[in-house]
Amino acid sequence: MFSLKVEEIIRHSETISTIFFSGKLRSYPGQFIMLNVFGLEEIPLSLSSPDSVTVKAVGETTKALISIPTGTFVGVRGPFGRPFSPTNKKALFVAGGIGIAPLVFLNDFLTACGAKVRLLYGAKSSDELVWVDRFDEVRISTEDGSEGLKGTVLDLLKDENLRDYDRIYVCGPEAMLRKVLEIVKKEGMEKRTEFSVERMMKCGIGVCGSCVLEDGLRVCAEGPVFRGDELLW
Ligand SMILES: Cc1cc2nc3c(=O)[nH]c(=O)nc-3n(C[C@H](O)[C@H](O)[C@H](O)COP(=O)(O)OP(=O)(O)OC[C@H]3O[C@@H](n4cnc5c(N)ncnc54)[C@H](O)[C@@H]3O)c2cc1C
Ligand code: FES
Repeated sequence: MFSLKVEEIIRHSETISTIFFSGKLRSYPGQFIMLNVFGLEEIPLSLSSPDSVTVKAVGETTKALISIPTGTFVGVRGPFGRPFSPTNKKALFVAGGIGIAPLVFLNDFLTACGAKVRLLYGAKSSDELVWVDRFDEVRISTEDGSEGLKGTVLDLLKDENLRDYDRIYVCGPEAMLRKVLEIVKKEGMEKRTEFSVERMMKCGIGVCGSCVLEDGLRVCAEGPVFRGDELLW
């Protein structure tokens, strides 16, 4: 473990912040770090850039993180895990809620590779939408209708011709991932679709077994990014 200083915080809303560190990590989009706030549990977080994480408060550690004072040191292990595979062609991103975090990093990376990225982004309400301005082409849905289409990101997905895309990248709650997998399978696109999967993690390095999926794959070691044809859901 090493320590990084919190250099800057952007408070997007009551519950979501981006925390920037003093140093960049050698990393690829889709990889995660194990982050330790002093005195609290260590948690996995995707990188939203080589020097940041974008966090939604759901429990003790994430609540502490979203308002952590600048200048505080946090413990970090990683980056770990299998990243997204790149494309320089057309890419569709499907994000649900805080699932946008790794896709912000991926957008920067693919755009630099010459890819054309389109984002479908669903959230509960407009105040949970973050980093929208970082994307050139975006369609939004909110469950309460406060911005974009009233509904979920799956409603946005219905309007897309999935075979137009070289790659589809998906991150969000598991129920959403499972439904997107069904949809891409019907279109024969599962090998060209990548999912960032979440599980409870302890070690983050493939040893403890706490993040194992139904088929025995470890999210921290074989994932967290999996192709659709690798998931047995
Ligand atoms: C690879 C990976 C990348 C992640 N990236 C991000 C990210 O970029 N931004 C972000 O805000 N969150 C991310 N998470 C989720 C984050 O790790 C959890 O929200 C965090 O561990 C919760 O800790 P807590 O102490 O605040 O809450 P806890 O009190 O531990 O938990 C609060 C609630 O969240 C659930 N929960 C806890 N950990 C997880 C988990 N790993 N997966 C699913 N549900 C969980 C618990 O069951 C409980 O219902 C990621 C998780 C993984 C596995
Ligand atoms: S978190 Fe320990 S095996 Fe994945």
